[in-house]
Amino acid sequence: MIKPLFWENDRLFIVDQTLLPVEYKRIEIKNHLDMAGAIKRLVIRGAPAIGIAAAAGLIVGLKPFINSTSGLFFEKLNEISILLNGTRPTAVNLSWALNRMKTVAESMKNQPVPDIWDRLYREALAIHREDIEMCQAIGRHGQSIIPEKANILTHCNTGGLATGGLGTALGVIITAQQLGKDIHVYVDETRPLLQGARLTAWELSEEKVPHTLICDNMAAYIMSTRKIDAVIVGADRIAANGDAANKIGTYGLAVLANYHNVPFYMAAPSSTIDPNIQSGQQIIIEERNGNEVRNVFGTQIAPFTSPAISPAFDVTTNELICGIITEKGVFRKPYYFS
Ligand code: MRU
Repeated sequence: MIKPLFWENDRLFIVDQTLLPVEYKRIEIKNHLDMAGAIKRLVIRGAPAIGIAAAAGLIVGLKPFINSTSGLFFEKLNEISILLNGTRPTAVNLSWALNRMKTVAESMKNQPVPDIWDRLYREALAIHREDIEMCQAIGRHGQSIIPEKANILTHCNTGGLATGGLGTALGVIITAQQLGKDIHVYVDETRPLLQGARLTAWELSEEKVPHTLICDNMAAYIMSTRKIDAVIVGADRIAANGDAANKIGTYGLAVLANYHNVPFYMAAPSSTIDPNIQSGQQIIIEERNGNEVRNVFGTQIAPFTSPAISPAFDVTTNELICGIITEKGVFRKPYYFS
């Protein structure tokens, strides 16, 4: 399994996910600007992975200030956190990880700066390690909703590339396969950036999970002509009432699944739950450049003159979500996250 981010002899690397599966290229992240650019360009992406990346980016960004005054160190911590937090607005894991780092730093305010940096480094590693554990627990809890023989439909990429570990929705699926269940997965290609086709199909191939790639607009046909046992997707931010943002197209899938009586599940670690917002209406949806729609990986497919929009996420309302699989278990409607 490819790790999206790793440390090697105190150097930080990420794998360029924009090139996968055609090319494997690792990139060294030398400072916070490298990391901010990588998160923005989706070189590293997926809600849990960008939380892990933000914490690691803060570490490399603060390293040059390890021998500076406490005042300057905290000034830089603030500045770098704001920069990293501003890279992508929808996934809450980003601010969750940065707030966690900040809380640790503030609890050591009167201690020597090198000790604070060292503790922050260990916190960034802990955020990564805990995500691996949360993925494993999500994979285990998710088994209660997967029959021994199952046809599952998924959207976007929620595997090892999007997290620190095995993945969330894909973690549930891969765990089912590892436990000997007879699994087949329909994979939405996930336009505009094709995370399903490029990353999920590739990860399922690597894990030898039988799967079939479909265009996003085939999902209704598949649900009406084949027996689909469940739709399982990830999430980028889950509000207190269970409304949840995920990759654009998820809401449509949830509507389709409900129409066809197919149970629709989301899988996410608790770092994706934002109890500070009451409903999905408060979730900020990232608007990306319309060129992502006019082009497919550098190839123009529409007139430059045609206006195009690229909202990266949509919000699925809680009544459409049959269950939310977290590391603490499977939550059911009505949802009250605190
Ligand atoms: O724009 P992306 O590729 O970062 O979007 C990713 C998704 O929407 C995933 O489904 C979500 O982050 C969950 S990843 C475990």
